Amino acid sequence: MMKTLFAGLAAAAAFSLAPLAATAADYPERTITIVVPFSAGGPTDTVTRLVAEAMSKDLGQQIVVENVGGAGGTLGAAQVANAEPDGYTLLLHHIGMATSATLYRKLPYDTLNAFEYIGLVTEVPMTLVARKDFEPSDLQGLIDYAKTNADKVTVANAGIGAASHLCGMLFMTAIETSLVTVPYKGTGPAMTDLLGGQVDIMCDQTTNTTKHIQAGTIKAYAVTSPERLDVLPDLPTVAEGGLPNMEVGIWHGLYAPKGTPQEITERLSKSLQLALKHPNVVARFAELGTEPSPEADATPAALKNKVESEIARWKPIIDAAGQYAD
Ligand code: MLT
Repeated sequence: MMKTLFAGLAAAAAFSLAPLAATAADYPERTITIVVPFSAGGPTDTVTRLVAEAMSKDLGQQIVVENVGGAGGTLGAAQVANAEPDGYTLLLHHIGMATSATLYRKLPYDTLNAFEYIGLVTEVPMTLVARKDFEPSDLQGLIDYAKTNADKVTVANAGIGAASHLCGMLFMTAIETSLVTVPYKGTGPAMTDLLGGQVDIMCDQTTNTTKHIQAGTIKAYAVTSPERLDVLPDLPTVAEGGLPNMEVGIWHGLYAPKGTPQEITERLSKSLQLALKHPNVVARFAELGTEPSPEADATPAALKNKVESEIARWKPIIDAAGQYAD
């Protein structure tokens, strides 16, 4: 009897897994959606659209980018955490995946157990910028002005958990002064207000600021990379300006919902690695002050390690700043 039962269970198990195995083997069979947890037109959106275009060519399927802004990227991340684990809904998110684990007391997902890892995409420097007619002309001038006008200086960001929030927090911690923060659903719309003079300063990724700095339509004070950038050779580093603790690179990763078959995540990682070598991706990233992650980093293991190590790295810094989201 027991033997029959096991045989029956084995047959049932094989039958139930059969569609999954077939699906994974034939993946992808339809349009894939990559969720960007910030508004269109911002740096995360820019990186995603470039990578999606190249991955689409490799996978032979359309890739749609869906912008889901709000709560510093956690709303978009939650949407993907709760999506079908079938490989057709992915998330391209950045350092906020790690910092939100500390910043948010009640996240709508479990950071270390809600996603499958596909790979790292790029690590982007940030720039401390201001509206074109903002009074201070250099970083020391900005520090002095901010300290004496703390209740007036407005700082745009994309919400608690955003890279722009993190960099703004590093700046305010470094100068021991709290400024007036203005949250947006992404630094795309924030840039519109900076260009229009409706907000004073912002710390944003070079993928969104480089073209405006080069055009002179915004003022730039420093870049958060250890070395100056080829695309912005006259822009000093934060270390040159006396704020070495502001050095930060905004790494980006590609994720799938927990339970997505490994055969699918591995296929996506291979496609990501190809996309990061695509001439258009390499060239556009370079123009925007960044570069693709190396092949060895565009892997599930590398991204898993990055998320885990970055949660541990940023927790004490965030706890010292004491800025949490309720
Ligand atoms: C951020 O500040 O986290 C992102 O740059 C926002 C965005 O991509 O719009």
